[in-house]
Amino acid sequence: MMGKFIVVEGMDGAGKSTHLSFLKGLIEARGHRVVLTREPGGSPLAETLRELVLHQDMDGLTELLLVFAARRDHLMKTVWPALRAGSWVLSDRYLDSSWAYQGAGRGLDQGLLSALTRQVEAEGRGPDQVFYFDLPAEMAAARRAARAQSVADQAPPSEDRFEQEDLAFFERVREGYRQAAAGRGERAVWIDSRNTIEDIQKLLSERLVSE
Ligand code: TYD
Repeated sequence: MMGKFIVVEGMDGAGKSTHLSFLKGLIEARGHRVVLTREPGGSPLAETLRELVLHQDMDGLTELLLVFAARRDHLMKTVWPALRAGSWVLSDRYLDSSWAYQGAGRGLDQGLLSALTRQVEAEGRGPDQVFYFDLPAEMAAARRAARAQSVADQAPPSEDRFEQEDLAFFERVREGYRQAAAGRGERAVWIDSRNTIEDIQKLLSERLVSE
């Protein structure tokens, strides 16, 4: 029996991290094993690529190729083996991040994105369900600033290349997510992150796919 592949998406500051651990608990409470993973990353090679993508200066096409290289390795080494073993996989970001950030955000070629999308998933499956945490770009920026402030005493500033982008970039990312969600039809769950944590958790419990 195959496990389910669940993905959480949203722009930086939209509340993904808060809800990931809740979703993990929800799935475990239903009696399934859960592999919690992330992109870029989730396998040793992909984690190495993550460091480069987040912190090295590079052009958009290089960035796109690296996130897809990381994704391919993540699928082959982590996601598909776990699903075959019957575990559920819960991923912090996946393919729709590339459509939102590299496609809509950076304006990279949609034909290339489509081709890479087909190729990376060719021998296995994509997500059974994707949760999108949506927030206006300005509110997400305010939440990121508040978070940065609260950790400023303990750690050096840790903004990655994406978090340094301007509001216009994140508005495009938001629109990219809207289109990605529309393309996933029934598998997409759109969540307004302005709602309270309690309301969001209720929605997650109601909407999470079952067997
Ligand atoms: P993020 O998941 O937000 O990690 P953290 O919570 O540690 O900041 O950071 C990953 C960044 O990578 C995020 O800004 C979006 C970006 N990204 C892409 O641009 N394309 C992709 O395909 C993926 C998976 C991520």
